Amino acid sequence: MSAVSSSNSLPTPESEYSRCVRVCQNRACRKAGAKSVLEAFQSHPVDNVNITASSCLGQCGNGPMVLVVPDMVWYCGVRVEEVPLVVEQHLQKNQRVEKMLYARFHPKGENN
Ligand code: FES
Repeated sequence: MSAVSSSNSLPTPESEYSRCVRVCQNRACRKAGAKSVLEAFQSHPVDNVNITASSCLGQCGNGPMVLVVPDMVWYCGVRVEEVPLVVEQHLQKNQRVEKMLYARFHPKGENN
């Protein structure tokens, strides 16, 4: 029988990483500069955050696409020069970078 936590706090991750940044490296995103975006994330390592190359995230034409899990926050059209902002604001301070959010999954005015 499984136990259900009655605590309001988020569960403590059991894996080595608490977050993963997936940077699409499929054709459309590569054409838009995703390789450099991946390299930029890799050059800004953050404790407990795993940076991975991803296959197509299913949002071709809006790339480079970046997905942060388990937050399920999507960033689109990410440029190399924007990576330090994502690293500092999202990965280190736990605040989404509103201006970079992918509107399809994060409609303006909604807090999701
Ligand atoms: S090629 Fe990147 S989302 Fe499909």
